[in-house]
Amino acid sequence: MLIVLSLGGSILAKNLDPDSFLKYADVLRKLSKKHTLLVVAGGGEAARNYIETARAVGADEVTCDYIGIEITRLNARLLAAALGPDASPEIPTNYLEAAKAIRPGKVVVMGGVTPGQTTDAVAAILAEFLRADLLTIATSIDGVYSADPNCDASAVKYDRISPEKLINIVMAIEMKAGSKSPVDPVAAKIIERCRLDALVMDARNPVLLGEILDGEAVKKSPISCGTWVTTKA
Ligand code: UTP
Repeated sequence: MLIVLSLGGSILAKNLDPDSFLKYADVLRKLSKKHTLLVVAGGGEAARNYIETARAVGADEVTCDYIGIEITRLNARLLAAALGPDASPEIPTNYLEAAKAIRPGKVVVMGGVTPGQTTDAVAAILAEFLRADLLTIATSIDGVYSADPNCDASAVKYDRISPEKLINIVMAIEMKAGSKSPVDPVAAKIIERCRLDALVMDARNPVLLGEILDGEAVKKSPISCGTWVTTKA
């Protein structure tokens, strides 16, 4: 299977703990021996801190995005370093380069691409471009809820939803100040247009991420630790 994984910086690069990079690398290395695997690393807290400082010194939003992209690429480099010879040697800076970097048994690792989106969107576009079998958005939230669970106690989690419903939920959450949607709206739109199966899951435990991707990527059945976005919902 061809799997594209959006690996949130908030879980991969938490406190820039080397152990975290090594643990995710271990899991990804094993997966890459059975599946073609491309990973898009997020920026996490470092990206947020840099962007906050950039705003405070008067940078425009596009400049802030470019700064965020640099941080995601640094996290990608750290993950590639942890993978050693099991990562493709270059960090692709666009989708064509990522496609060209695919080699059997090697993990392609990249970061952001262009301003105005997040690495979820990069992963979704890459998955569409490569006609991936599965897109996984690995984050610290255990799936897609009817509303932002941090702001609305009545929010309920979905095991499966359609891409159209995902867009509705994400747009409603984005309209509310202070709310954060589990999936970037650009990514949701791409998932909808290419009718791709996507899994939004809590991947704070790298071992669980490996188990789910290895087993569930094949079975494509509902799981309790995430939400399947599928046209079969
Ligand atoms: P992330 O993808 O890390 O954003 O990109 P995030 O939603 O905060 O995700 P977590 O916390 O890692 O899970 C960090 C920033 O980099 C810029 C955006 O400003 C984004 O907020 N970025 C990233 C881009 O502008 N374009 C890209 O393609 C990727």
